[in-house]
Amino acid sequence: MVYLTRFEHFNAAHKLYNPAWSYEKNEEVFGKCANENWHGHNYELLVTVKGTPSPDTGFVFDVKQLSNIIKDNIIERIDHRNLNVDVEMMKGKMCSTENLAIAIWNELVQHLPEGVQLHCIKLYETPRIYVEYFGE
Ligand code: NI
Repeated sequence: MVYLTRFEHFNAAHKLYNPAWSYEKNEEVFGKCANENWHGHNYELLVTVKGTPSPDTGFVFDVKQLSNIIKDNIIERIDHRNLNVDVEMMKGKMCSTENLAIAIWNELVQHLPEGVQLHCIKLYETPRIYVEYFGE
C-alpha cells in the first residue's frame, strides 16, 4: 500500500460561537475566535489517498486529477469565503477545524474514482495547529 498526498491552500473567515450560550460563556471558551466580526486563517489542506501503484503508470492515482477533484469540490467552494455563512458543507455546524476536516472528507469521498481510497484529511489552521481525520 502506498500513500499519496496532495497539498492545497485556501483562506477563509469564520468565528466560533455557540448560539445556545451567553456572550460571556462564548468569550470564555473560544476567546478571540468568538470575535463577533469574524477573523481569518490561511489553511493548508493535505489530502492523502492510498492504493497499489498501477502496473501501467506506476501511480497510485494521477496527482493532477486528484488536485482537480480537490479544487473543484473544496477549494472553489471555500476559498475566500466565510465558513459560517457562505459554505454549504458547514451549514448548521460549529466552524472548527475539526468539523471542517470531517466535512471535507465527506465531500471528497464522493468524488474519488473506484479503487482510490481516501486515507486522511490533514488540515492546518495555523502553522502550529492541525487536525487529522481518517474517516471515523
Ligand atoms: Ni479561528
